[in-house]
Amino acid sequence: MKLRMWMLALAGLGAATAVTAQDLKSPSTDLYVPRLGDIMSAAQTRHQKLWLAGRAQNWELAAFELRQLTASLVEAAVLYSGIPVSNVTTLEPSLQSVTGAIAAKDVRKFSKALGDLTEGCNACHRSMGRSFVVIKVPTDPQPFANQQFAPQAKP
Ligand code: HEC
Repeated sequence: MKLRMWMLALAGLGAATAVTAQDLKSPSTDLYVPRLGDIMSAAQTRHQKLWLAGRAQNWELAAFELRQLTASLVEAAVLYSGIPVSNVTTLEPSLQSVTGAIAAKDVRKFSKALGDLTEGCNACHRSMGRSFVVIKVPTDPQPFANQQFAPQAKP
């Protein structure tokens, strides 16, 4: 099969599933632009590493992972104009709280702030028709321990 045919077949597949990115305006540029899902996968990794670093009280690493995570979220908002800016700005207080907890080296505050931040992830997912992507505070260091895979009860 020629490449073009593959692309068409893939496009058809995408259209047939409920999950499309049509409501997200893709940027037009010749530069490599990461797909939103790829930015989010990086955010997921950072979210978990942030948690693990904070729990281990490695505050330098936690601060680094927080910067990386924030950069991913900003990148998503800047590159994908379909994402309402307010969905990102509402994360500001919880990002500030995590920053404050790291500066204070306070595990209890850190855990609370990360819980709030995680709720912010899910609030955006819900508002963008992605309520099935449920992020949670990780329970263990396994990969993807910060995502819930069992289906959510329908509202
Ligand atoms: C401003 C909105 C917004 C915020 C905030 C947000 N996300 Fe997302 N996320 C999305 C959208 C939209 C998608 C679906 C992307 C797609 O359909 O390709 C998504 C998808 C994902 C996915 C699925 C990626 C995949 O390919 O499996 C993960 C994981 C994820 N987000 C993690 C996070 C984490 C962790 C946070 C918080 C630290 C977060 N997201 C915050 C909008 C957001």
